[in-house]
Formats: sequence, C-alpha cells, structure tokens
Amino acid sequence: MNKDLQSIVITEDEIREKVKAAAAWLDERYKGKNPLAVSVLKGSVMFFCDLVRAMETPLQIDFMTVSSYGKGSVSSGVPKIVMDLAANVSGRDVLLVEDIVDSGHTLVRMRDLLLGRGAASFTAVTLFDKPCRRQVDVKADYSCFEIGDEFIVGYGLDYAQQYRTLPYVGILKREIYEK
Ligand code: IMP
Ligand code: MG
Repeated sequence: MNKDLQSIVITEDEIREKVKAAAAWLDERYKGKNPLAVSVLKGSVMFFCDLVRAMETPLQIDFMTVSSYGKGSVSSGVPKIVMDLAANVSGRDVLLVEDIVDSGHTLVRMRDLLLGRGAASFTAVTLFDKPCRRQVDVKADYSCFEIGDEFIVGYGLDYAQQYRTLPYVGILKREIYEK
C-alpha cells in the first residue's frame, strides 16, 4: 500500500467486478446504437479505459478536461472547461464517464452543455457517488460505488495531482491534507 494512505477502500478485484457490471448495463442500454463515450479528464481516465474495453457496443471515444478544484479538496462550484471535445455531439447518444459525483456541479454543467449542443441523449456513468455531499439535485444514471464523506485517491483520482496511478482506491492520511 502507498505510504500516504490510511487504508485501501476498494481493491483492484472489486473495481474489475464493478466495471464489468457497468459495461453489461451499458451494452444493454445501447443495443443497436453507436454512442459517443466522453471521458471527463483527468479523474475518469483509468475507469474510462477499462469500461470501454469491457463494452461490446461499437462506439467512439472523446475527451474533455474539466477542472473544479484548485489544489485543495473542496470544490469551487464553478467547473471550468480546460479542453473541449473534438467531436460534434449533435444528434449523438452521449455517454459521459465521470470519476466522482460530489457536489454535482460538474455533472450538471456537462449535461446542460452537451444537451445544449444537440446531443440526442445523455447518459452519465460514474465510478463513485457521494450522495451526502450534493449541492445540486442531480444523479448519474449508473453508479458503481456509493461512498460517504471521505476524500479518496487512486485509480484516476487525485489529491493535488498525486496518486492517480495507484491501481486501487484508498483514503489519505489526515496529515497529508493538513500539511
Ligand atoms: P463535483 O463537481 O463537486 O461533483 O466534483 C466532481 C469532481 O471533484 C470529480 O470529478 C473529482 O475530480 C473531484 N472529487 C470529488 N471528490 C473527490 C475525492 O474524494 N477524491 C478525488 N477527487 C474528488
Ligand atoms: Mg480531481
């Protein structure tokens, strides 16, 4: 285990299982369709790559970089688009892949933006959901893990851009935040 972690909350095996189930759910939903899968960078990148490889539905992939945090662990509430999609979403079935739905601001911003650009449908899948932290009323269509009010890192998730490459998900030691 990484020395800055207090504990591992989700193992590689648990992630693999949930990714498989999410992929099966999406294959069922998108039968006969050709969706555009959008990864919200950078947090969702590990989940995204595993998820689209586990799916059988033919699809295209695209990326968008959205940043809602500065260096800290509290959302600023104003998600900023740092890098936009290359694809035109008009008429497309858009599958948005998120790492965590926390305050909900990022998901609302993405949904309004993509539907506003003429997407035919919008489906959001998230690896983690923190329902107790919600500031706006929104929910992903599919969520792999529901968690409490803890700050987690690994498998794409960061604290100050660190720990994204850990293959599992853990809770940081308090002293790391409070430094
Ligand atoms: P929201 O806009 O507040 O829902 O925040 C969404 C973004 O905040 C996520 O895409 C993450 O990048 C980040 N975030 C929220 N909670 C955590 C966490 O526990 N660890 C790492 N990043 C988090
Ligand atoms: Mg982040």
